[in-house]
Amino acid sequence: MPDSQWQSIPCRSLYVHVPFCARKCAYCAFYSEASSGELIDRYVSALIREMELVARDLRPDAVFFGGGTPSLLNLRQWELVLRAMERLNLLGASEWTVECNPATVSLDKARLLLDFGVNRISMGVQSFDEMLLDSLGRIHTRAMVFKSFDILRKAGFRNVNVDLMFAIPGQTLDVWRETLDQALGLGSEHLSCYEVIYEEDTPLFTRLRAGEAAQDEDLACAMYEELVERAEAAGFQQYEIANFARDTTPDSRGSAPGIPGRACRHNVNYWRGGPFYGLGPSATSYIQGVRTRNWPNTPLYCEHLEKGSRAIESREELPPLARAGETAAFGLRMVSGWQFEEFLSATGHDLRGEWFADMTQLANRGWGRIGPDRFQLTPQGLRFADAAAQLFLR
Ligand SMILES: C[S@@+](CC[C@H](N)C(=O)[O-])C[C@H]1O[C@@H](n2cnc3c(N)ncnc32)[C@H](O)[C@@H]1O
Ligand code: SF4
Repeated sequence: MPDSQWQSIPCRSLYVHVPFCARKCAYCAFYSEASSGELIDRYVSALIREMELVARDLRPDAVFFGGGTPSLLNLRQWELVLRAMERLNLLGASEWTVECNPATVSLDKARLLLDFGVNRISMGVQSFDEMLLDSLGRIHTRAMVFKSFDILRKAGFRNVNVDLMFAIPGQTLDVWRETLDQALGLGSEHLSCYEVIYEEDTPLFTRLRAGEAAQDEDLACAMYEELVERAEAAGFQQYEIANFARDTTPDSRGSAPGIPGRACRHNVNYWRGGPFYGLGPSATSYIQGVRTRNWPNTPLYCEHLEKGSRAIESREELPPLARAGETAAFGLRMVSGWQFEEFLSATGHDLRGEWFADMTQLANRGWGRIGPDRFQLTPQGLRFADAAAQLFLR
């Protein structure tokens, strides 16, 4: 990472991976497994040990517990983690998100999290259609979504994200419209909508291979357009390909221009190529330009920590230009794109130098816009951001 960001030690962003789910969903390739009480206890002890090892380098302002299903930890396990964070001075983040599955939300758990400073919940809803929920292997029903949302509001959460998926096999445009309307009707502050990715080694991928599921690019495009239109009509501002936030309650945290107050700070830091610590099995960290990854194996992760060392599987340090290229590519996922000056001070490289021809090519294709102070993708470019971003890699 750029010299200017290296100076931001202690690190202000913390990700914690909780590698357990009640059941594995048909599409999901994130590292997680169906849980057993004993392994979760062992993981909690190892995680606390890992926190102890890095706490000195951390003063988190954005914390994200993802997974897996962090809400699967029971009250006792959560209390152990939260008390350890208190002891290690890791509380007090201005944004602290915990991912929840609607089937595992309870008022007691919500209150405990809130008491320790968690102030944002990200709920994996995926769809409001019972048949699709079932075919995706979700453990919750549509009714549980409404119930959990009420519990979170009752507990006092004022910043809630809802995750949805589209282009699910069997999902028609009308079913997607209904899901969108119901999600928007909840009144959440944030919305994340992901087009289905057919990840290898998942049951959904096997269905695709067997001809039981089909991809329809035109339908996926129509669903994306519908999403952007309806979300904006409901008062959301799109700030990243898949992410929308309401801007009616800009907070005092001073978000960057073009980024709504309720944008996920943790993710914005990630897309901007900022440093972060990642703890837990399979989690990656990005510190002082070095990317490390923990073992994606919970017993092995625990074994390392029980012996007193971090469970690092791999380490990668990219040359500065490659790092800058990656930072450019990630940042272009954001609607506001990259301000030339900001990119220069973050990476030490000028977008208008090394990447001028690439930006021009994208602009000529209608995928990019070169403005006086920035480069950003157009709505069409955002739809194909992965392909556009490839051009910036070195
Ligand atoms: C890391 S998951 C955790 C959410 C939580 N465990 C849950 O599912 O309730 C975050 C989100 O990624 C999305 N996701 C996971 N696998 C995906 C895939 N193969 N294609 C598209 N989106 C996916 C889902 O919307 C999911 O809610
Ligand atoms: S989508 Fe969420 S609940 Fe489903 S397997 Fe993946 S991490 Fe677990």
